[in-house]
Amino acid sequence: MTEEKKITVKDILAMKGRRKITMLTAYDYPLAYLIERAGIDIILVGDSLANVVLGLKSTKDVGMLEMIHHAKAVTRAVKHSLVVGDMPYESYQLNSSQTVKNAARFINEAKCDAVKIEWFDDCVGAAIKIIKAGIPVMGHIGLTPQTADKLGGFKVQGKDVDRAMELIRQAKALEEAGCFAVVLECIPDEIARIITRKIKIPTIGIGAGQYSDGQVLVTYDLLGLFKGFSPKFAKRYVDLSGHISRALESYKNEVLGNKFPLPEHSFHISAEEVKKIEKLANF
Ligand code: KIV
Repeated sequence: MTEEKKITVKDILAMKGRRKITMLTAYDYPLAYLIERAGIDIILVGDSLANVVLGLKSTKDVGMLEMIHHAKAVTRAVKHSLVVGDMPYESYQLNSSQTVKNAARFINEAKCDAVKIEWFDDCVGAAIKIIKAGIPVMGHIGLTPQTADKLGGFKVQGKDVDRAMELIRQAKALEEAGCFAVVLECIPDEIARIITRKIKIPTIGIGAGQYSDGQVLVTYDLLGLFKGFSPKFAKRYVDLSGHISRALESYKNEVLGNKFPLPEHSFHISAEEVKKIEKLANF
């Protein structure tokens, strides 16, 4: 196999208008390895880690410790895809020196290539500071789970003129701040199309229809591995939960029925050696 070169932020920018950008979430080594092998452009170590892996209620419940720990596992597996670390709640909203320090941990400790931040009052200020420190930033607007309570809950955003215009303004502001891409979450198809045309950086949609420059999904949703709430846009490509459950039950039944392990799963010594040992052990 020829060694493929690392995808850079510059490569992602150049994909706009040429071909769709693919992005998926990963939180561990084995899935990151398979996602990269499938040829996915961007791997996001999402704070959805909270819900889908750690069994927590909200993405607000994970912190830097967990995010860095999982990001390290992902980057150990990835040579080619661009890896983006999702900055957790309150790691970039509170004070600017902390914001830059936390972003730098994703790059220096976890070996990510970029960070993602969700929209909040001073999102542009935070993006500018991180970018000034030499760290590429992906923005995230629309339904921003870390501040969903301020948006009226987990609802489609940008359905009326004022709110749609606000989203267009946010996307433009993130572009001007120097972000290299922006995630559009849960917004109408038509608004995603307008934003995608209006800005020069790529848009990556999730629940934002077909017109974004790229698409992202939570990998556990597409694999049918997450049994919690699954939104309408999360297409399930396979029911891995079903496959796993059947395999686990087969294992249990074979152990109970003395059908596992069989001789081919075991280690053996000669009958002669066994006899000697039995004699010495008074067996
Ligand atoms: O954390 C996450 O998985 C995300 C995606 C939904 C974009 O932010």
